[in-house]
Amino acid sequence: MNTNRSVSRRDIIRALAAVAGASLAGPVLAACGGNESPASTAAPTATSQASTGGSGAAATSTPAATTPASTPAGTPATGTIGGSLTVYSGRSQQLVQKIVDEFAAATGIDVKVRYGDTAEMAAAILEEGKSSPADIFFAQDAGALGAVAREGLLAELPSDVLDLVEPRFRSPDGHWIGLSGRARAVVYNTERVKESDIPPSILDFTDPVWKDRLGWAPTNASFQAAVTAIRVLRGDDVARAWLEGIRDNGARVYENNDVIVSAVIAGEIDAGFVNHYYLERQRAEAGRDLPARNYIYRNGDPGALVNVAGAGILTTAKNQEQAIAFIRYMLSPEAQTYFAEETHEYPLVAGVPTDPNLVPLNEIQTPDIDLSDLADLEATLEMLRDVGLL
Ligand SMILES: [Fe+2]
Repeated sequence: MNTNRSVSRRDIIRALAAVAGASLAGPVLAACGGNESPASTAAPTATSQASTGGSGAAATSTPAATTPASTPAGTPATGTIGGSLTVYSGRSQQLVQKIVDEFAAATGIDVKVRYGDTAEMAAAILEEGKSSPADIFFAQDAGALGAVAREGLLAELPSDVLDLVEPRFRSPDGHWIGLSGRARAVVYNTERVKESDIPPSILDFTDPVWKDRLGWAPTNASFQAAVTAIRVLRGDDVARAWLEGIRDNGARVYENNDVIVSAVIAGEIDAGFVNHYYLERQRAEAGRDLPARNYIYRNGDPGALVNVAGAGILTTAKNQEQAIAFIRYMLSPEAQTYFAEETHEYPLVAGVPTDPNLVPLNEIQTPDIDLSDLADLEATLEMLRDVGLL
């Protein structure tokens, strides 16, 4: 669906930087990740610069507060690889520092992580170009990986690594790979909505039967990726009509997915458009069942989008061996179990158990889309502004 208009790297950087800047300045675009959870709102998203020479200012993960004194059980002996690695992470420190620390302990690699919003990290990599100190781009959205890959900045990954993950969750060109899955979901109040009330397509929520019953978060990055998916799959006219239809159905605007889930649990709204893991996290925090459930489309509908958090290795990476080791580690049973249990995402490697509360991935027919195409965020933002949602 990408048109043949030529977009320069400068245009892309400007667009990504605008998105990132907006998200830092206010709720025009909220990040979609751990920093949405109440406990982590104060988490630093733009921490130290790994690129400022010397080591004092860098966010070095190896001796971080959470690092255990000894190697975690079940992982390889320390010091087997050594050297260093610089990761630009669009995933929040709160969510991934622990698994990065385990990787560092298991391999003896000195890992420096620069944390920030995913769009901000993508813009930084594009801006820095060949001189970027980044070895790895760890993103919470495939679109951002696609944007960097399209500029020729991501190297092809080894086939034995790529083969660990289904083709639908990685770059067709092998430039990035999904490390955990994030399903779109309709969260609904089980006292007000029956599963059989959910329409066969996400596009059908424009039906007046849903008048004044819905909630959404137009500033949320995952929501915007979902709108991009509708544009890519069905065209701009359908996407725009859907946005206008939901708006005209009186959907309430919320700041983020967490608040939507809370509003559904409280019965303030009947249903909302979210990523699946927010309800799972709230349920885990509550330690009991809640009057809400996720409906996961599994029929190839645009609503059945499963985005990924994933990673790619920069073509300019100075620490190739360490970078490959990082990706292999994140695909190991230990790390995949971490994502399943700690971030409530889908593991993407076969044989790692999925949370029994979730619809198994192999039962979800995802829409026929190259997740790299979610890179076309700019046109989605323009559409959201046109429709009056931003
Ligand atoms: Fe999110």
